[in-house]
Amino acid sequence: MNPALSNALAPSNWAPDSWQQRVALQQPQYDDAAELAAASEQLARLPPLVTSWEVLALKQSLAEAQEGQRFVLQGGDCAESFADCTSPIISNRLKVLLQMSLVLVHGLKRPVSRVGRFAGQYAKPRSTDQEVRDGVSLPSFRGDLINGQDFTAAARRADPRRMIQAHAHSALTMNFVRALIDGGFADLHHPEYWDLAWVEHSPLAAEYRKMVAGIGDSLRFMETLAGPIAGFSRVDFFTSHEALLLHYEQALTRQVPRHRGWFNLSTHFPWIGMRTAALDGAHVEYFRGISNPIAVKIGPTVKPEQLLPLIDALNPHDEPGRLTLIHRMGNAGIATALPPLLEAVKREGRRVLWIADPMHGNTESTSNGHKTRRFDNIRGELDQAFDIHAAAGTRLGGVHLELTGEDVTECMGGARDLSETDLDRAYKSMVDPRLNYEQSLELAMLIVRKSVGGPG
Ligand code: PEP
Ligand code: CO
Repeated sequence: MNPALSNALAPSNWAPDSWQQRVALQQPQYDDAAELAAASEQLARLPPLVTSWEVLALKQSLAEAQEGQRFVLQGGDCAESFADCTSPIISNRLKVLLQMSLVLVHGLKRPVSRVGRFAGQYAKPRSTDQEVRDGVSLPSFRGDLINGQDFTAAARRADPRRMIQAHAHSALTMNFVRALIDGGFADLHHPEYWDLAWVEHSPLAAEYRKMVAGIGDSLRFMETLAGPIAGFSRVDFFTSHEALLLHYEQALTRQVPRHRGWFNLSTHFPWIGMRTAALDGAHVEYFRGISNPIAVKIGPTVKPEQLLPLIDALNPHDEPGRLTLIHRMGNAGIATALPPLLEAVKREGRRVLWIADPMHGNTESTSNGHKTRRFDNIRGELDQAFDIHAAAGTRLGGVHLELTGEDVTECMGGARDLSETDLDRAYKSMVDPRLNYEQSLELAMLIVRKSVGGPG
């Protein structure tokens, strides 16, 4: 490991709670300070969910992605829920990510780092603090980490003990994912383990299986010549979430015996959401002191003169792998919003990893009240992102998606051309609409076409 990566000290004027001196947006109002303190203390004593070694290994991988030697696939639910912490939901999500990553590895001829939006994605930013229904106003639902979804005063009360439950559900998720991977679930010799029962008749599944059969043939051929090849039987999986609720993140910020600095050990790769990325805000203050690789969502209103100071604050020493910028501009906005940012970062010679999130700038509401996204807009934004980076001489090193392995109808369009009326059939998301299996695989295939050329 590059020693420069593991030796970073936290800045001298920083502490895990120094964010409390700044304005913290998108935080709940806890009404009992003693209850919050008790839950925070309990959380701070519980074991972490990841280790500093894993965190630094991911940072190294992200540094490689910055250099074009890897691609990053980051994906999962918009919001996890405690109720969805089940065996089929966790393993189906893993299957989709594994299938997509196989398409990418095969097509890009580059290693792929898989980063789940899971095992901690339990807090959501909201556009209003209060929700009004039939004249009744209650605090908005902010995710299972904070309060309950039912529209009752009891459910909507911010309950700090939910932080303990979220930690436990994250640990259950991590434990199952680790056991699956270590037990051979991700073994390239057995890609049939990743088949999803309900996609048997999908045309994309057929195309995918043809590719897998080809990989299997090559693998058997190579192993006939050289014997079993190490590294094909397991893959790495990392976790990420929006580090929104700072009391939770603070309680899981730890020092470790063998590495200097402070680590957020609730996840490998926390990110700052678009709504909480103010330079002088509490989230930037918290993030600047931790040693994890970190990401920031960049929306269409961000200007170069705001972005460059943010990069200075979060990665003052230009450390490789440290900072990822996830742009989420919208299909209509990316052509004007992104180029000035790419040019400024390139001109200043700053080292960042660029990732495209083609989901969050393309959310709309249908006439019957569903939040949805048109697949054509998602595909269009991703397609443009590759071209804009190529024109700017920068590199798109990854993609950030909201997807699920469940048979949902939440985004319109795609291989089965889902329409507005189809959305009623299987709309399950608690928050944002997710890609289903076919829509996800189609995007993986698009990434390959855009990266290696060929028919677009
Ligand atoms: C999200 O990733 O679910 C999200 C809220 O994104 P953003 O901060 O980019 O709006
Ligand atoms: Co979302």
